Amino acid sequence: MFEYRQGVLHAEAVSLEAIADAHGTPTYVYSRARIEERYRALHEAFGDTPHGIRYAVKANSNLAVLHVLGQLGSGFDIVSCGELERVIAAGGDSTKVVFSGVGKRDDELRLALTHDIECFNIESPAELDRLNAIAEELKTTARVALRVNPDVDPRTHPYISTGLRDNKFGIDVPTALSTYRRAAELPRVGIVGIGCHIGSQLTELAPFAEAIDALMRLVDQLTAEGITFEHVDVGGGLAIRYRDEKVPELNEYAEVIRRALDGRKLKVLLEPGRALVGEAGVLVTRVIYTKDNLGKHFVVVDAAMNDLLRPALYDAWHDVLPVRRRPGNAVSCDVVGPVCESADFLAKGRKLNVRAGDLIAIANAGAYGFGMSSNYNSRNRPAELMIDADECFEVRRRETLADQLALESLPPT
Ligand code: LLP
Repeated sequence: MFEYRQGVLHAEAVSLEAIADAHGTPTYVYSRARIEERYRALHEAFGDTPHGIRYAVKANSNLAVLHVLGQLGSGFDIVSCGELERVIAAGGDSTKVVFSGVGKRDDELRLALTHDIECFNIESPAELDRLNAIAEELKTTARVALRVNPDVDPRTHPYISTGLRDNKFGIDVPTALSTYRRAAELPRVGIVGIGCHIGSQLTELAPFAEAIDALMRLVDQLTAEGITFEHVDVGGGLAIRYRDEKVPELNEYAEVIRRALDGRKLKVLLEPGRALVGEAGVLVTRVIYTKDNLGKHFVVVDAAMNDLLRPALYDAWHDVLPVRRRPGNAVSCDVVGPVCESADFLAKGRKLNVRAGDLIAIANAGAYGFGMSSNYNSRNRPAELMIDADECFEVRRRETLADQLALESLPPT
C-alpha cells in the first residue's frame, strides 16, 4: 500500500510528494485499503470459530479509522469514556464495545452502562462492587468478564508487558476465582466471559497459549461450580514487523488460540490494535537541515518526539524511507526533530542520502503514533489524512496555535 512508483513513494495511488505539497508536513497518512485488508485477513484466519474483533481504539482513535473498521463489522475495545464517545461519533455499535482499564471512574461506568456495552472487563474486586452499585442506581444489569492476570511473560518491551504479577493490570488467578464466585452472587452483574491481555508487540505465540491455558483452567473449575461463560477475550498484542522481527502469521495465531480452547464452546473476542493499523500509516516529514558534529551526521526534520513518541519512549525502530530516491552515496545518520531533548530522535544510525527540503516517510506509524502525540514545545499536532485508492481525505486538520491557546487564559493582574 506504500510503494514506490517511478521512484516516488506513494500511499495507494497518491504520491506522498503531492500530499506534502498540498497539506504540509509533518502529516500522518493512512491507507484505508491496508486497514481493510488486515481486518479481513484476521477475520478469515478465525474462519468458522465463533469470534468477534474488538479493535483497541487506543492504537489509533481517529474517527475515520474507527468508521472504516466499524463498517467492516468491527466492535471496539475502549479504556475511557472518551474512547466510547469517539466510537459513537464514528457510527460504531456500542453493543459491540468491551471496556478495559484499571481505573474506570464512576462517570465512565455510568456512561458505558447507559450505552448498554457488551462487556466490562473488570480489573479489580473493588471495581466489580462499584459497577454493581452503579448498575443498581440505574436499575440495569452489567455484563462482566474478569480480566485475569495470568502471570505470563510475554517477552516484549517491559513498558508494554501487562500480564506479569508485577504489572498493575488484571486480577491474579486465586483472586479471580473468589471474585467470580462473588460476582455470581451480585444482583446487578451478569457473568458473560473471561479475558486477559498480556502485552503488546508479542513476536511469539507461546505466551498467548500459556495465558489462555491459565484462563481455561479457571473456566473449567468455575463451570463445574455452575458458573457459565459465553466468551473468552484473548486481548490484543500481536506483533507487526518494524525491522527484521519474525512475526507470527495470522493463521498461526488463530490456530494457537483454537488449540488452547480445546473444543470448549466459547466465542473468541480479539482486541487487536497494532496488528490492524500499524502498517497502515506513515508519518511524512521534511528535512529542515542536515548537519555534522565532529563527523556525526544529523538529519533534522520537522517531525519530532511530540509527533511520534515511540522511538524516544521505547527506543522503537521505524524504517525511514526517502519519499524520492536520490542517486549517490548514503551515509549513516541520526534522524532527529527540533524538540529540546536528546531523546528527540526518530531513527538512529540509518544510511540515508538526503538534503534540506527532501521528504522522508517514517514507516509503520499507524499505531500509537498520533494517539500518543502531544503539544510539547508548543508544537501543533500533525494533520491526519486517509487515502482511499486515488482519493485523499483530510481526516484531521493540522492544529493551529489558536487551537492550543483557546483552552488557556491569563490570570487577573
Ligand atoms: N487490549 C488492551 C486491554 C490493551 O491494553 C491493549 C494495548 C490492546 C488491547 C491492544 O494491543 P495491541 O494489539 O495494539 O498490541 N504504546 C505502545 C503500546 C501500548 C499498548 C497498550 N495496550 C507502543 O507504542 O508500542
